[in-house]
Amino acid sequence: MNLYKISHVNKVYKNQSQTLQALKDIQLEIPEGKIVVILGPSGSGKSTMLNILSGIDIPTSGEVLFQNKQIDHMSDLELTDYRRQYIGFIFQSYNLISNLTVSENIELGSHLSEQPLDMNEIIKTVGLEHHKHKYPYQLSGGQMQRVSIARALVKNPKVLFCDEPTGALDEKTGKDILKALQDINEKYHTTMMIVTHNPSIAEMADIVVRMNSGEIVEEIHNVKKKHAEDLGWA
Ligand SMILES: Nc1ncnc2c1ncn2[C@@H]1O[C@H](COP(=O)(O)OP(=O)(O)OP(=O)(O)O)[C@@H](O)[C@H]1O
Ligand SMILES: [Mg+2]
Repeated sequence: MNLYKISHVNKVYKNQSQTLQALKDIQLEIPEGKIVVILGPSGSGKSTMLNILSGIDIPTSGEVLFQNKQIDHMSDLELTDYRRQYIGFIFQSYNLISNLTVSENIELGSHLSEQPLDMNEIIKTVGLEHHKHKYPYQLSGGQMQRVSIARALVKNPKVLFCDEPTGALDEKTGKDILKALQDINEKYHTTMMIVTHNPSIAEMADIVVRMNSGEIVEEIHNVKKKHAEDLGWA
């Protein structure tokens, strides 16, 4: 089943002096449980695409269906509800609360959900069991990214949006994070939407979407996926 179906989506940003079309006639279907990697140069519309799918922003025109339900014309209240119920989001900059421990940061996510997953199991899945009681300043970048993944995941989202999840990380740490995402996808069938500049990451995707100047210029369905450990690193 398609989790998302996007038809003729345009996003135009206007200010006093200029108009910028960030997305142009986007068509895309995303089946449930897949890993989707979005590649493209800076400014090509990757974050705009994530923002629209995750209900942070709305398209100027076109249709976005989530589980056959139209989300492109929802009110702010409905969008908040949609995000709370179905969406997890992780950012390149982690967004952790500095005076809360690892466990407490993750627990924040579980309060957002009516059916949260087991905290301890999630902490184990992302490999943080020995760091539960530490504060963010005591963690490496990769460990902080794991906390942000765990916090997004513990609410049991249908979709996990990751905007440059490994952008600030070295190769080893980056691959560890991608392995965690792959494990989560296999274990919970969470659909993953990963934005990256790193073309190597495309090899672990089911679907690779390549963007340029607001358009999808290529969509590849991989027959064989690589394990995170076996990826190259651009
Ligand atoms: N809120 C906004 N107002 C005006 N223009 C915007 C806004 N958000 C994005 N844009 C513009 O839309 C285009 C696409 O931006 P977007 O952030 O989606 O690119 P991106 O592919 O994520 O780039 P990067 O790899 O640098 O993160 C860019 O030209 C950007 O300047
Ligand atoms: Mg971006």
